Amino acid sequence: MPFEGLRDYLEALEEKELFHWIDREVDQDWEIASLARLIFRGFPEERRFGMGFRNIQGFPGARLVTGVIAASTQQIAVALGTEAAPLPIFKRITQGMNHPVEPVVVDSGPCKEVVLHEKEVDLLSFPIPTWTPGKDAGPYMTPLWVTKDPETGDRDIGIRRCQVKGPKKTGILFGAPDRYGAVHLAKWRALGKPMPAALFVGADPVTYLTGPSRFGIDELAVAGGIREKPVELVRCETCDLEVPATAELVVEGEISTDYTEPEGPFGEFTGFMAGGREGPVFTAKCITHRKDPILLGLISQFPPSESSIIKRNLLEASLYQHLSSSLHIPGVTDVHALEAGGCTAILWVSVKKMHSGQVDQIAAGVMGYFGMSYYKWIIITDDDVDIRDPFMRDWALSWRVRPDQDMRILPNMSAVELDPSSLPPDQVVEDPRGAKVIVDATKKWEYPAISLPSSESLGKVINNWAQYELPALDEVKFPKGF
Ligand SMILES: Cc1cc2nc3c(=O)[nH]c(=O)nc-3n(C[C@H](O)[C@H](O)[C@H](O)COP(=O)(O)O)c2cc1C
Repeated sequence: MPFEGLRDYLEALEEKELFHWIDREVDQDWEIASLARLIFRGFPEERRFGMGFRNIQGFPGARLVTGVIAASTQQIAVALGTEAAPLPIFKRITQGMNHPVEPVVVDSGPCKEVVLHEKEVDLLSFPIPTWTPGKDAGPYMTPLWVTKDPETGDRDIGIRRCQVKGPKKTGILFGAPDRYGAVHLAKWRALGKPMPAALFVGADPVTYLTGPSRFGIDELAVAGGIREKPVELVRCETCDLEVPATAELVVEGEISTDYTEPEGPFGEFTGFMAGGREGPVFTAKCITHRKDPILLGLISQFPPSESSIIKRNLLEASLYQHLSSSLHIPGVTDVHALEAGGCTAILWVSVKKMHSGQVDQIAAGVMGYFGMSYYKWIIITDDDVDIRDPFMRDWALSWRVRPDQDMRILPNMSAVELDPSSLPPDQVVEDPRGAKVIVDATKKWEYPAISLPSSESLGKVINNWAQYELPALDEVKFPKGF
């Protein structure tokens, strides 16, 4: 059975020791963020867990959880109801993409237990942390935003940072003009109207995984396909939008299209602070929430983070599907986005190459899928290289690339807006440009045999290892199929 919302999911995580409540009093301005960071810097991925705070200084009775969606692939596997390995996760996500289940609108739901109309709206009454203490412009939420295309009525869901600036006012960052949410904003601006928007926090965890991905169809229908059960939605009180019925907190309002003010800075997924530039303003008009809502904050900032783990799992799966099924490129064996680049800067693809055009086709397919901004390093290698193993990646770069022939720099391309190498911080542009490198790390001709003993003799020694009375062997890794 899929999870109905955040609460039954947290119980499942707690049972597997992937989540712990903390009863000691904590400060929302410096302590929560520092604890969160130590989960990522102090534990290997397989031992990380999420945390819940229920004794937050100045907010009696309030609760906030963090690191519960994607501190690790194990958590993502729990959310998706599958095994914690790339292939089963790929399969669950592609099942949702190939067999989407449309959401259904129901009359009411837990997110309407408390309804606060305009005069009662006070975002500052919730314990919203500062994630890069001393450097962020203020407290930030990392909610899912819902908007609609004014021409087609198509819905978009996306995670976007949300700077709480006052009781009824927030900032929002539209990172790149090609994102569907940003396209909606441009269309509302052309109509001369503010954009109706709603944000929600805490719902079925699958919505947090599909929301920031790019499928070309309603992310909630993909979530329904993964869950094999439709996501239940309720109508907003003040605008023509729908939000998940089990959300913990919903804020309804509108985003300015004729007015901007400075937004940020905020500690970003690149590992650097970013922002302080002009951005639109969200005005909150209504809040609905569950009784005793549990707020959810995603840990982003310096990688690895929940941001990079969400993107690694979701972008890899959707890109693999795009290259192999939508573009029908034969032989694509794996796609791997590196967390050091926040999973949007460096991408490796392995392919059983049949002709040199496949490399160009893969590179073009990758760039096109993300509106030309994601991945400034696209490295394509052969299928015998395990692109999830850093040593094998370095080995491929070392001996399968002749830099003058096998690297192509594409100048003046769309870029990730937050890349600090594209532009000095004092230069502000709406449509950021940068460059891309395509590295063909495939063998261009028959290579000599690999300089290792045969797999038969290595296998025999591994099987007889105990008889040599040596310390136990660790995991043994060799190039595939040598
Ligand atoms: C933790 C996290 C935080 C994110 N913050 C932002 C953000 O502040 N602005 C933004 O444009 N995209 C952000 N993204 C990426 C978007 O959610 C993603 O590009 C999404 O596909 C945008 O939705 P759209 O293309 O459907 O509009 C974030 C992603 C994650 C996982």
